[in-house]
Amino acid sequence: MIKISDTEYFSNDKTIRFLNMDCNEFMSQCKENEFDLIHNDPPYSIGVNMNAGRKKDTKSKKREVKQWDSELPSEFHFEECFRVSKNQIIWGANHMIDKIKRNSQGWIVWDKCVAAGCSFSDCELAWTSFNQALKKIVSAWSGFIGYEGEKFHPTTKPIAMYEKVIDLYTKPTDTILDCFGGSMSNAIACHMKRRKLTIIELDVDYFKSALNRFEIYERQVEDIKEFGYAKTKINAQNPVLF
Ligand SMILES: C[S@@+](CC[C@H](N)C(=O)[O-])C[C@H]1O[C@@H](n2cnc3c(N)ncnc32)[C@H](O)[C@@H]1O
Repeated sequence: MIKISDTEYFSNDKTIRFLNMDCNEFMSQCKENEFDLIHNDPPYSIGVNMNAGRKKDTKSKKREVKQWDSELPSEFHFEECFRVSKNQIIWGANHMIDKIKRNSQGWIVWDKCVAAGCSFSDCELAWTSFNQALKKIVSAWSGFIGYEGEKFHPTTKPIAMYEKVIDLYTKPTDTILDCFGGSMSNAIACHMKRRKLTIIELDVDYFKSALNRFEIYERQVEDIKEFGYAKTKINAQNPVLF
């Protein structure tokens, strides 16, 4: 990990840029079509349980209740997304289509194959600007069911799901912007797929935990290159392998 300042980092190979700031402030400094793709997972304003997935019988601390899910992004935010990128994928768009204000045929349906008894929704939807047939992605995800360690973000999406989207909707030369990093699964997926990504997270606690998660992943990849196996122990506080 390369530190530029407390709010800006790069992956060692410089393909992933991490920013701790407000995404709207960042976009206000961007040129038109600066990015090939915006791939965003904004707050859905559905009353996220900030302790979702946390096992009550483990030693992990109760998470601080944060307010980021209380408001949807503004219409101005979406206009900025359309200004600074050529294409867009927006998760949870069914909760905010009145603010996106554009039709699309090219939605993505993510089938989470949720475990029986899990209260999560069966599927999630993403609006895309790609004028193509609706696509279904199947990537099993029932939150952190069965995982023993600490989970620092309540709405982590799986790396495998991001990888599938990258395969389907991007080219190796594409530059990608993710305005709502959260646990930054997208950063790990983009690094695995060798895509150039700028990823932003406003909350400093999530930002630090996500950097730590990425750093462990990065060390494991470097270990495998050097020793043939992941010598660096997985830090149970910040799981990478899901
Ligand atoms: C739905 S979560 C993203 C989860 C992510 N997809 C993952 O896999 O972990 C939305 C995130 O956006 C962050 N956020 C909210 N408003 C923001 C803003 N204006 N700029 C940057 N990040 C913001 C929140 O702190 C939260 O972590």
